[in-house]
Amino acid sequence: MAGPNIENVRRILVVGSGAMGSQIGMVCALAGYEVALQDIEEEMLGRAREELERRMGRNVEKGRMSREEVEAAFGRMTFTTDLEGPASEADFVIEAVVERLDVKREVFRRLDRAAPGHAVLATNSSTIVSSRIADATGRPELVCNMHFFNPALVMRCVEVVRNPKTSDATVETTAELARRVGKEPVVINKEVPGFVANRILHAIRSEALWLYENGVASFEDIDTACRTALGHPMGPFELMDLTGIDVAYHAANSRYEESGDPKDRPAKSIVEKYERGELGRKSGRGWYTYDEEGRRVE
Ligand code: 3HC
Repeated sequence: MAGPNIENVRRILVVGSGAMGSQIGMVCALAGYEVALQDIEEEMLGRAREELERRMGRNVEKGRMSREEVEAAFGRMTFTTDLEGPASEADFVIEAVVERLDVKREVFRRLDRAAPGHAVLATNSSTIVSSRIADATGRPELVCNMHFFNPALVMRCVEVVRNPKTSDATVETTAELARRVGKEPVVINKEVPGFVANRILHAIRSEALWLYENGVASFEDIDTACRTALGHPMGPFELMDLTGIDVAYHAANSRYEESGDPKDRPAKSIVEKYERGELGRKSGRGWYTYDEEGRRVE
């Protein structure tokens, strides 16, 4: 069986239509690929489609792309609850389902059975390394992490993380796919928790939470310092609201599980917000408050 090769990649299946999966699918369709976006619920797919149409509509209004380009990209996309059908036609699969190992392993087991032998099976996971999933398939050499950043339509970095069994051809194909959809791949040769960008982000976030919880400065002022002194596009608290306080909470728990170091436990203020359901922009409130369109109101 021929190994993976970027020249053979025409159809991409993206599994999971949350904020990450839907934007990853759109990025690939805009770059000319045929994309199937799969989820278990029609309702999720409907919401994903509406949100993408709204975002693309703004891009047309602002003259960033033409209406024809956007229509052609949507013409290349299908929204489906069927997994096996689109998997059987896919040359490349990107999984972006909930960050739970059992769920991902089951998805990969089904994908492995249905997808052609040359298809790379990549996970967008930021916390679960692909070696914990690859053995649920009969093709561990075609499995890796392909980690996009939020918002995936905008952020250019994609971390391509190899597991000890990932083949060079899989890494090359995945990195080249990232380039062809307009991103900048970064190859990570060892499966360290958090990879590169999230480890750096974690260091900044931990310091910001320490300063806030110790009453050194308000979270608003810490955000302002990061923007105006360091040139960050957003402060760490604004960014937590964008990526989700639940994501920060689960990421800290999984780091703690791995290291056993109490310093890795979620910070007190994160636990409180998580328990109150204040998850950031998606729930209308996190560190800041947002209206229905996701604009900050306080
Ligand atoms: N989805 C898609 N596009 C978005 C978006 C979103 N959620 N938010 C903003 N944009 C795009 C839009 O095109 C927007 O223009 P428009 O509203 O006129 O259409 C454009 O970005 C500029 O947005 P804004 O004027 O509202 O604000 P900014 O100039 O601050 O840009 C930003 C927004 C690009 C998100 C920028 O603030 C930024 O780069 N922030 C840092 C993001 C970051 O660090 N991401 C990494 C997070 S870590 C991660 O992803 C790890 C993973 O494992 C979870």
